[in-house]
Amino acid sequence: MAKKVKFLAVKENKHPFSERKKNPKSYCIFHFFERLYIMYSSIYIMTQKEEYAFIKGDRINLVPLNFDHLALYDKWGNDEDFRRYCRFFFPRSTEEVKNWFTASVKSTNYYSFEVWHKEDKKPIGTCNLHCISWINRTAELGTFIGEQDYWGKGLGTEMIILLTKYAFQELNLRKLKAGIFSPNLGSQKAFKKAGYHVEATLKKEVYVDGEYVDIYNHVKYNE
Ligand SMILES: CC(C)(COP(=O)(O)OP(=O)(O)OC[C@H]1O[C@@H](n2cnc3c(N)ncnc32)[C@H](O)[C@@H]1OP(=O)(O)O)[C@@H](O)C(=O)NCCC(=O)NCCS
Repeated sequence: MAKKVKFLAVKENKHPFSERKKNPKSYCIFHFFERLYIMYSSIYIMTQKEEYAFIKGDRINLVPLNFDHLALYDKWGNDEDFRRYCRFFFPRSTEEVKNWFTASVKSTNYYSFEVWHKEDKKPIGTCNLHCISWINRTAELGTFIGEQDYWGKGLGTEMIILLTKYAFQELNLRKLKAGIFSPNLGSQKAFKKAGYHVEATLKKEVYVDGEYVDIYNHVKYNE
């Protein structure tokens, strides 16, 4: 019976939505709710995409890179205060930043994350494991809180702890490293608080603000 009714409706071109055109008032209401639904779903999808946590922390999550945020990553990377101790010696365009992150997505020895602030619901930085050696089971950490209002609140330390736990407990790496410039006190403190120690000092290794400074190689073993 139901099949027969459906068949007749199609035959007489009586699709439920075709009726709305005959009644402009109901059409307007329908159209309004239709738009509202589309808007709501788009916002929901966008939020879901940004909040999707690969690694869950207390105040931050490490989430997959979001290529819609490239301009933000670019802004951080070109900022003078941010890039001072990061080996970002030359200006980079958004296109170059895109190529850089695309390479990291394709690589099997380089994994990057966006750092997502849970309470404020926004990206505040990026971090990565790079130079991963699957033979030696080692990797280097890259740690970047791009939003400077969030510096000195313990978030850098939490980011290092999360990345370290992931590297040891999921990737089965055994030794992690970070080469930190001697004037970068914030980074040294954050790594020490996350359980790293200085294993080697490279004397006058890098040129920063008009002088050669040391690099302290911070390490942590999975033991
Ligand atoms: C380095 C960085 C990741 C540290 O992140 P952060 O969120 O500021 O670190 P934390 O808040 O966890 O800081 C840890 C400690 O260092 C202190 N600290 C932070 N910045 C400092 C600074 N510039 N000078 C002195 N101490 C500082 C904090 O007060 C905290 O100490 P406390 O626990 O005794 O209060 C962040 O500053 C950053 O991204 N800088 C620019 C990029 C960079 O240099 N990356 C590292 C390359 S190796």
